[in-house]
Amino acid sequence: MKASQFFVSTLKEAPADAEVTSHRLMLRAGMIKRLGAGIYSYMPMGLRVIRKVEAIIREEMNRAGAVELLMPVVQPAELWQESGRFQAYGPELLRVKDRHERDFIIQPTSEEVITDIARQELRSYKQLPRNFYHIQTKFRDERRPRFGIMRGREFTMKDAYSFDRDKAGALRSYEVMYQAYCRIFDRFGLQYRAVAADTGAIGGDASHEFQVIADTGEDAIVYCPTSDYAANIELAEALSLIGRRAAPATALAKMPTPGKSTCEEVAELLAVPLQTTVKSLVLATDRLSAEGDLLGTTIWLLLVRGDHSLNEIKAGKVEGLKGGFRFATVAEIERHFGCKPGYLGPIGTALPIKVVADRTVAAMHDFICGANDEDFHYTGVNWGRDLPEPDLVADIRNVVAGDLSPDGKGVLAIQRGIEVGHVFYLGTKYSAAMNATYLDETGKPRLFEMGCYGIGVTRILGAAIEQNHDARGIVWPDAMAPFTVVICPIGYDRSEAVRAQAEALHDQLTQLGIDVMLDDRGERPGAMFADWELIGVPHRVVISERGLKDGMLEYQGRRDVTASPMSVSAVLAKFSAWRQQTLALV
Ligand SMILES: Nc1ncnc2c1ncn2[C@@H]1O[C@H](COP(=O)(O)OP(=O)(O)OP(=O)(O)O)[C@@H](O)[C@H]1O
Ligand SMILES: [Mg+2]
Repeated sequence: MKASQFFVSTLKEAPADAEVTSHRLMLRAGMIKRLGAGIYSYMPMGLRVIRKVEAIIREEMNRAGAVELLMPVVQPAELWQESGRFQAYGPELLRVKDRHERDFIIQPTSEEVITDIARQELRSYKQLPRNFYHIQTKFRDERRPRFGIMRGREFTMKDAYSFDRDKAGALRSYEVMYQAYCRIFDRFGLQYRAVAADTGAIGGDASHEFQVIADTGEDAIVYCPTSDYAANIELAEALSLIGRRAAPATALAKMPTPGKSTCEEVAELLAVPLQTTVKSLVLATDRLSAEGDLLGTTIWLLLVRGDHSLNEIKAGKVEGLKGGFRFATVAEIERHFGCKPGYLGPIGTALPIKVVADRTVAAMHDFICGANDEDFHYTGVNWGRDLPEPDLVADIRNVVAGDLSPDGKGVLAIQRGIEVGHVFYLGTKYSAAMNATYLDETGKPRLFEMGCYGIGVTRILGAAIEQNHDARGIVWPDAMAPFTVVICPIGYDRSEAVRAQAEALHDQLTQLGIDVMLDDRGERPGAMFADWELIGVPHRVVISERGLKDGMLEYQGRRDVTASPMSVSAVLAKFSAWRQQTLALV
């Protein structure tokens, strides 16, 4: 490829609204162009990277025995009504009407359509197991589209769906996908971790996210450096930090804490460690009639230690909160606690409430909490003596670095990650809702056991850049780069020798099967180098008259500090070896 026949469009400055490095660099390198919030055109340079990512995914999905098809972007609402997701899916689901006023959706994923295909096509146990996938445009009307194509509204996903006879088969299909994902992310050359993830209403423990490690990641991932424990913080189990509750040592006292409404402020005022305070969070659950009328509301007080934070996913698994909860309103709080927020606690509430204590809080003694009286806190609080034991004790907090690992094999560390893939055992969620069955050996209809497996194709570009960049621009891993090598001739328009050598090398590398770019634009060397460093091409060969006098070119890897002289044959040998290595992976 020659630059004059391609489209190179770089920018000195990124638009001000680009918040993270990858977004800025993708805009500056001319990889994407914004059309609207969360909606981007993939420009030629960016599309080349997307195609490389897709090719690797395709190769590994096919190797794992999955079969490619392509399902529509626009899908009739009927199927989504059958599964219940037309109603249950939040505002992220884009619902549209056609000219006949019929409802349609733009797919955020394709469980319904694939289940519909399976119930028509997979009739017998003899056709199982089966795994279908496609690489297709998705739309999710994200509340806060941001970070360019990392959290877009329109984006590209690879989604696969497995169909098995029974749970054991489904878990085997899951394992095959898990291994395929490891191969895929290994081949991209990214540093990643597979972490256990929340399974929501499905339950079970077969859900893993593939997280690319990056400080700007939206997810917190928890791992144990001395074992193979790794989980999303949403799921990571927090053990009690206190073995057995100690006996009370101090008397209950009501202390004035004027204007001090947070645990930090109270601890500072009273000159005690934050770890002796308890934080109050107030939730509400509503009971509704079949018609949807409000029958009653229960108010819940959740208690975590002052230095800990509530984990809402875990709270949602507490008996009584499972059906869904919301944060209580100020009016509800004032009615039940007889006090405004900031001074709330479990002792002496105005109306009955349910108290859920985190495991650590349940083991505390002589602690500090709000007194349900504005500008006052209690100190020396003890369960059983000053207030009844909590109604429920549960793991409701986020783990913190240094906590004991739930596998007992060390202490936990936390790092940030970008979710680029997700494998998920679905069970019969969709097959039951849509009555999707096959016939077993005895001719009896049985529900498919399913799994779904997503990879954020376009998000991977952003994630890779977050992990691989420097002050000059992107540093693509070889497998993802839009071009593997760029040839930068100095004086292309002036020197016959330089031009001839550049063209010859371009043709030879192309013949080797290398994605090579020849910059024939006649740019000054500084501008030319800056462009390709920004774009992130991992290998550069410079051709100059001076070097050619000694029969030499100059080679420089994108991460190398200096260039090294190399003969034409050495350059060819290097990339021939490179090509053999990549071919061996396919
Ligand atoms: N808005 C988006 N923009 C780009 N990629 C996305 C987006 N939402 C999801 N993806 C990608 O699609 C993959 C599979 O989709 P899945 O339904 O698991 O996403 P998700 O868990 O809702 O993602 P997130 O938690 O980041 O919103 C994700 O692992 C992610 O890589
Ligand atoms: Mg996910």
